[in-house]
Amino acid sequence: MEYYDRQVVLITGCSEGGIGHALARAFAEEKCLVVATSRSLPSMADLDHDSRFFLQELDVLSEESVHHVLSSVLEKFGRVDVLVNNAGIQCVGPLAEIPLSAIENTFNTNVFGSMRLIQAVIPHMASRRKGKIVNIGSVTVLGPGPWAGGYTASKAALHSLTDTLRLELRPFGIDVINVAPGAVKSNIGNSALASYNRMPEWKLYKPFEAAIRERTNFSQGPKSTPSEEFAKRTVAAVLKKNPPAWFSYGHYSTIMAIMYHLPLFIRDFILRLAMKC
Ligand SMILES: NC(=O)c1ccc[n+]([C@@H]2O[C@H](COP(=O)([O-])OP(=O)(O)OC[C@H]3O[C@@H](n4cnc5c(N)ncnc54)[C@H](OP(=O)(O)O)[C@@H]3O)[C@@H](O)[C@H]2O)c1
Repeated sequence: MEYYDRQVVLITGCSEGGIGHALARAFAEEKCLVVATSRSLPSMADLDHDSRFFLQELDVLSEESVHHVLSSVLEKFGRVDVLVNNAGIQCVGPLAEIPLSAIENTFNTNVFGSMRLIQAVIPHMASRRKGKIVNIGSVTVLGPGPWAGGYTASKAALHSLTDTLRLELRPFGIDVINVAPGAVKSNIGNSALASYNRMPEWKLYKPFEAAIRERTNFSQGPKSTPSEEFAKRTVAAVLKKNPPAWFSYGHYSTIMAIMYHLPLFIRDFILRLAMKC
């Protein structure tokens, strides 16, 4: 198969062990040419020397980094068929006391980082009247609970932007897909704990310390969905001729879909029990 027969897929946040890495492999299995990106090339070392992957360093916080990677990809392949905004960070701490800088950093990565890639790629996709933009949101938006308010708010913003983009980009032939993972095995728990360990000591919330700390690893329980399984299902949905506007899969995704429709007093009751609040 030549280059021009294959879809070029650019994915952010492809460090080994995470969802982005599993997505990179799953798109490659479907004969796509995958531009796998992450903040450091060594984090994707196992994809090196495999012609299905074009590895690039990309920090979604940097305008320069985004434009540099996009130029390299367009020079090499002449197009981007699918953009997957996967890079993301957790943000755990009670909203009353968490430093605003932590919430800002989360929005800068999860929301503005995604928008940076989207705005960079749209002129190119619009000129071809073809393309797909996939934003990785989260099921947590369907039932925002205690202790990860900054993260959930950032994903809620991303969901909302995704819905608007889908309508605004339709006239230009660009599909926009909101992917909401449930609990999926990845490095997110370890990264969240590392950030959490840099938080100040809580004052009012000192008695809740153990419950708050537990939230860092909530998605990484024994029943969490393997990232390979999640990636295979997601890629199948994204590569459809008419992809769905919303795709959700993984442990807790059904429960969260039900939670969304529950009366608030029942939802609050369940979340208070689950999060020991
Ligand atoms: N796992 C779940 O249960 C779950 C549930 C719902 C939603 N999600 C979402 O799924 C996506 C992938 O997360 P994951 O679970 O696979 O977590 P992960 O293993 O921690 O992967 C996150 C990826 O994002 C990268 N990243 C962070 N900041 C970045 C930046 N400024 N520029 C470029 N890359 C950056 C990380 O790079 P480094 O390795 O350099 O840190 C890593 O490659 C995230 O958007 C997350 O919010 C995950």
